[in-house]
Amino acid sequence: MITVERLQAPDAAYVELLDKTVFGNRGLAFRRTNWPDVVARWQRLGGAFLVARDGDRTVGTYALVPHPIQLAGQDVTAWYRAALSVAPDTRGQGVGAQLAAEVKRLFVDEAEGPVVCYGIVERDNEPSQRVQIGVGYAPIAACVALPVGSLRPRGCEGFGPLEASEVDHVAGLLAERWSGHVLGTDFRGSLSPDDTRVLRVDGRIVASLTGRLTSVDITAMPGVRGGLLRAASPLLRQLTPLFATRPNRHLVLANLWWETPEALARLVSAALHEHRVAHGIVFTDYRSPLRPVFRDGLRGPVHKLVPAPALDVWAGWKGLTDEAIRALSDLPHAFAPGDAA
Ligand SMILES: CC(C)(COP(=O)(O)OP(=O)(O)OC[C@H]1O[C@@H](n2cnc3c(N)ncnc32)[C@H](O)[C@@H]1OP(=O)(O)O)[C@@H](O)C(=O)NCCC(=O)NCCS
Repeated sequence: MITVERLQAPDAAYVELLDKTVFGNRGLAFRRTNWPDVVARWQRLGGAFLVARDGDRTVGTYALVPHPIQLAGQDVTAWYRAALSVAPDTRGQGVGAQLAAEVKRLFVDEAEGPVVCYGIVERDNEPSQRVQIGVGYAPIAACVALPVGSLRPRGCEGFGPLEASEVDHVAGLLAERWSGHVLGTDFRGSLSPDDTRVLRVDGRIVASLTGRLTSVDITAMPGVRGGLLRAASPLLRQLTPLFATRPNRHLVLANLWWETPEALARLVSAALHEHRVAHGIVFTDYRSPLRPVFRDGLRGPVHKLVPAPALDVWAGWKGLTDEAIRALSDLPHAFAPGDAA
């Protein structure tokens, strides 16, 4: 019999299952290779970890990371769902559905105040989509994993860490730039000076980003079933010494703010240089102004080789005002998926 319970902290078996998991199946398929770092960060942020067991054996995982947001002026607890995995030999037997049902019960149905529980699912990942549909979640937004790269990432003058005293200022700038963004504009919590970098001109901040180093093994790409990546890999191998890049390390970029596109492009390039990687990934929505910034500002080969996979944000919620629900559900109409190329 399968049992699902909440863990105080992820144990070794939990991390081991995640370590072996290939996420996605028919589109972008990848294995994340720094799970201990990832779950430690989620723990620091107050994350919750659910495990499915068959007797003593760990056969499924699901994690949630909280952050407060405002939707149409209403304070809401948002839980970001991630790390849904079922051991390959146990798939198709309802374990994923059981985990998702328990997450919904604990974090949506039994929540005290207004809550939204959301997660990103690749459009080609049918089993995961079925799991979302099974618990009554709805797609609220379309987004894309935009890979950005720079052939020769370089440092630049004025690049440096965000000072603790500047957090409020940059949080305000971000709130303004992303004011229409559905999943909130409260940036204070995620603007850690440890991994946020800014570009200054004459002492004034002209661009900012948060860059978290992660490592991923990409095993297949959308549409090309891995063929494009295989074709490209000899080229990537040749380029590797140029950047002193360790394979498969990249920066996940967040909290992007810029006064001019050129400033952001310079900052991204300097951040890639600092972390000795050649590429980063931004999860962004279809109407994002970031695409032309990266397309025109960073002319490296990486983002041309790696197609951007399409994703959807699936959410369930409770206790939201009609305006807040509209803020969630109006969003897909504001997107222009035709821009996805
Ligand atoms: C996604 C995943 C967790 C699903 O877990 P699971 O235990 O196999 O799912 P379940 O047995 O509970 O099935 C849930 C639904 O998915 C459907 N499903 C399961 N496997 C499927 C498959 N290979 N193709 C299509 N549908 C599938 C089931 O029929 C069921 O649909 P229903 O509710 O309409 O009956 C599992 O496939 C997995 O670990 N995948 C790799 C990691 C991953 O991609 N995680 C999601 C990241 S967003």
